[in-house]
Formats: sequence, structure tokens, C-alpha cells
Amino acid sequence: MKVVSFSCKIYDRQQLCQVLPSEWEINYVEPVLDEHTVVYAQGADAITAFVNDQLNAKILQRLADYGVKLIALRCAGFNNVDLAAAERLGIKVTRVPAYSPYAVAEHTIGLMLALSRKLYKAYNRVREGNFALNGMLGFDFHGKTVGVIGAGKIGRLVGERMKAFGCEVLVYDPFLCEACDELGLQQVPLQDLFERSDIITLHCPLTDETNHMIDAESIASMKKGVMLINTGRGALMEPQSLVDGLKSGQIGYLGMDVYEKEGALFFEDHSCEIIQDDVFERLLTFPNVLVTGHQAYFTEEALRHISETTRDNIQMFINGQELVNQVSC
Ligand code: NAI
Repeated sequence: MKVVSFSCKIYDRQQLCQVLPSEWEINYVEPVLDEHTVVYAQGADAITAFVNDQLNAKILQRLADYGVKLIALRCAGFNNVDLAAAERLGIKVTRVPAYSPYAVAEHTIGLMLALSRKLYKAYNRVREGNFALNGMLGFDFHGKTVGVIGAGKIGRLVGERMKAFGCEVLVYDPFLCEACDELGLQQVPLQDLFERSDIITLHCPLTDETNHMIDAESIASMKKGVMLINTGRGALMEPQSLVDGLKSGQIGYLGMDVYEKEGALFFEDHSCEIIQDDVFERLLTFPNVLVTGHQAYFTEEALRHISETTRDNIQMFINGQELVNQVSC
């Protein structure tokens, strides 16, 4: 079995090395998969890929020409894969459906707390000997209303944890969530959630329907000063409307672990370059915005689980077994 693993940083490689069978021939490739790097897949039976690897029809065609028959995604989301093209080319696609929903839920709440209590400011101020509290006023979560969009594994964990803070939790999901009733999470229409929530957090997949669901119109219907958190996928939010909402004060706090055009930025060190994305740079200038670089999933437990599930997905393919984590259109 020859496997080429794209977007493989040192921390990914360390985990994969520990779990992948030694008889497999593995080529770890650090760069993202794109039209320039796809050539590394020549002669591979399978590739592994991550969130920003480009798996459009053109690249899938190249992979098929090289003989690749399996794409084992090392992530849950598969919005970066043209599934129809993969199916047409006879390439199977698997994913890691849940590596640690706890990791993402905990990071989500970390962003909420850091923003409300301005921990990112306190870190710098105190180190400079500035112990003044001006500008550091926060708010209690207790008694606030939190809106969770997407009542899946992560959304439900976030909802459960916000209940423990003493919040009223509203959820919106197009599918009925029986577990939500047991957890005391109130299912409401999306518009109700927008209008009633003090904090809104996104945990739905990126689809045609959810693309830019947070835009000028939805932001205008929210409470003034709302806190918005996105640890789902960047394109759930339309970035210019975030800038406008922050400038007008309609958005009081913004926490993002994902960004629509993160592919050009995240997971790499750009500290010595001039970043060309003006909207992203504008977002970073606001004192009430906290951005992390797609690290919500990044815990030891999650990395181990990703590696083990990726190994199992490839092994099932080798054995000709049913691919339990296959995604198709
Ligand atoms: P999940 O599949 O368990 O839950 C997703 C939920 O969203 C489902 O209940 C589904 O019915 C719902 N949904 C579908 N369409 C919707 C719509 N139009 N509006 C509202 N809800 C809708 O997925 P999970 O594990 O909870 O992950 C959620 C998302 O989090 C993933 O799709 C992925 O994009 C993102 N994620 C981010 C990570 C990070 O490191 N920042 C890591 C892992 C996942």
C-alpha cells in the first residue's frame, strides 16, 4: 500500500508514524494539495488530506490518472471535495466523522470567555505593568441566551456546557434533535434564534444552504452588541458584513477559529510577509475580535483519534470491507 499524506505538519507526522502499519509505504508531504503539489501523488494507491487541501474536479482527475483510488480525509468536514467528480472517477472518499467534539466545544467556550472577560488584553496589559481596569468590563454568562446553530455532536456539547453556566440555550437545526429536549436545549426557528440570542455560535456544516448564513441581513436582525462565534467553517460568515457590523456596534464581540479565505493564511507562518487580505487584516484591528488559526480541534486526544481513524479507513479499503466512514454525494 502506497500512501501520500498531504498537509502533513510535523505534529501530524508524529502521530501518523505511531499508528500506521510499517509495511505501508508512506510519503509525508508538508505542503497543501493543489495543482502544483498533486504530482507527489504519482503511483500512490491512497492519499490523506486535510481541511484546506484542494480536491476540485481538476485535481481529482490528476489523482485518478495517477492511480489514486482512495482519499482518506483527516478531518470531519468534506466541503473541499467535489464528491460528484470523485464518484465519477471511481475514487472513494472517507473522513474522520468525529475526532474530538470536546476539543472544539471547549475551544468555542474558550473564545466566548476570552472575549467577554478580555483575557487576551489582560495578558498583555499585566505584563506591561498596567493593572488598570478601564476597558476590561465583561459580562456574566449567567442569565444570558445562547443560540447554537447546528445541533450535532459539537453543538450539543456547547449547548450542554452553556446550560451549566446558567444560560438559556436555543438551538436551530433543520432536523429534529431528540437529545436536545433531554438536555434542556430549546429548538427554535433560525430567525427566533437570531433575534433572541446574546451569543450565537455556529456548529453546522458548510453547504450551499449555510454558505454566508451570517450576512448583513441576518446580522441586522440580531440583538445589538451580539457576540458571534464561528468554529464551524469560515464561509458560514460573509466577512465584509462582519466588518460593517463591528463598525456600527451591531456586533459587540467576534470570535473566529475559521475564516472564508483561511487557505491562503492558516497553518503557516506569515509573520515576515505583508498579508494581502484587507478584509481579514481589518478584522484583526478591532479590539473586540479574537481570531485563532483553525486550532479548535488541536488537542492530543483529537490528533491521536484522527490518525487511528484514518488508519482504520485505509485498512478497511485494503480489506475490501464496507467503508463505514465513506462520504458520497
Ligand atoms: P455533526 O454532523 O455532528 O453536526 C452538524 C449538525 O448541523 C447536524 O445536526 C446537522 O443536522 C446540522 N445542520 C445541517 N444543515 C444545517 C443548517 N442548514 N442549519 C443548521 N444546522 C444544520 O458535526 P459536528 O461534529 O458537530 O461538527 C460541526 C462542524 O464543525 C463541522 O461540519 C465542521 O465544519 C466543524 N469543525 C470544525 C473544527 C475546527 O477545528 N474548527 C473541527 C471539527 C469540525
